[in-house]
Amino acid sequence: MIPKTMRALQLESFDGPEGLHVREVPTPTPRAGQVLVKIRTAAVNPSDLMFLRGRYGVRREPPTIPGFEGCGDVVAAGSGLGALLVGRRVAVATQGSFGTWAEYTVAEASTCLPLRARISDAQGAMMLVNPLTAWALIDRATRDGVKGVLLNAANSALGRMMIRTARHRGLHVVAIVRTAQHVAALQALGASAVVVSEEADFADALKEACVTHGCGIGFDAVAGKQTGQMLAALPRGARVLTYGALSLEPVQVDVGTLLFGNRAVEGFWLTEWIRRRGMGTVIRAMVDIQTSLADCMRTDVHATYAFADAAAGIRSYQDAMGAGKIVLKP
Ligand SMILES: NC(=O)c1ccc[n+]([C@@H]2O[C@H](COP(=O)([O-])OP(=O)(O)OC[C@H]3O[C@@H](n4cnc5c(N)ncnc54)[C@H](OP(=O)(O)O)[C@@H]3O)[C@@H](O)[C@H]2O)c1
Repeated sequence: MIPKTMRALQLESFDGPEGLHVREVPTPTPRAGQVLVKIRTAAVNPSDLMFLRGRYGVRREPPTIPGFEGCGDVVAAGSGLGALLVGRRVAVATQGSFGTWAEYTVAEASTCLPLRARISDAQGAMMLVNPLTAWALIDRATRDGVKGVLLNAANSALGRMMIRTARHRGLHVVAIVRTAQHVAALQALGASAVVVSEEADFADALKEACVTHGCGIGFDAVAGKQTGQMLAALPRGARVLTYGALSLEPVQVDVGTLLFGNRAVEGFWLTEWIRRRGMGTVIRAMVDIQTSLADCMRTDVHATYAFADAAAGIRSYQDAMGAGKIVLKP
């Protein structure tokens, strides 16, 4: 039986984790094309941290329930094909009026991915946003016909997925990290070269590694001056796709690299990519993610938090993102 009310983490002001409170709220009802999902686990991503401060591309005024993805059981459906999912354990993504940091959420049936038994509830909560982004970016590199890719924030969950996926597709990877502590681990994952941005010879080392490994495209999650450093290290005609702003700085690029080298910086947002490429490509990617690329898409989970401790958990993730993801459990 579906209860009339449920517990949820409600964002009551754009104050980061401080704005979150556990509240009893009405359980949502799925409309046509939607499903009701009983949440088992919910993910916490950098996009959520920005949302909690009102700084993400999707903004809802408080009070609102955050959380863009999770894992749960489809327990009801509005009219339409969603009925086929009732009873299935799914990965769910939602950017609508309800987030996943609740006992139940509503989502479009088309944003639910039925999960294979071998995928745990924790991994299932992170099976859509980062894996699809990794798939999309490495697909772009393959379509551009480059030999190697350059990426920063390489120790992030998404960076690690991209290293494994690029290697699986036969591409070289030059990986940028902030500190030397992650070098050996990323080499073990398959990175052809790992360059440390804090070291004095960073610009020269980056250029040399990009030439050696044939990098023709860059994927940038940091922004600030690192976007320009990546662009300058790549050959004439190259593109840097900026898909995150972990430095919280605006993109800085030397104008000469744009004017005289025919290079360019592009933005990448998964939501826009799905709109442009359509469900056919998304379904193809989702099949790969659970089959041939399943081992590439694992995420290290550092800890699990109940809703009552979520604010403390999110603060600890915010302070040490490189330690691994946290997962929320109703
Ligand atoms: N555009 C899109 O559609 C899209 C989709 C998915 C994800 N993303 C973006 O992808 C990025 C990675 O996401 P994720 O879930 O993989 O993150 P994550 O695993 O939670 O990890 C965050 C990583 O960011 C690094 N980091 C934090 N601040 C940094 C800074 N100022 N400079 C350099 N590195 C920094 C940390 O490095 P250390 O290990 O050194 O601490 C850590 O490895 C985020 O920016 C996210 O918003 C974008």
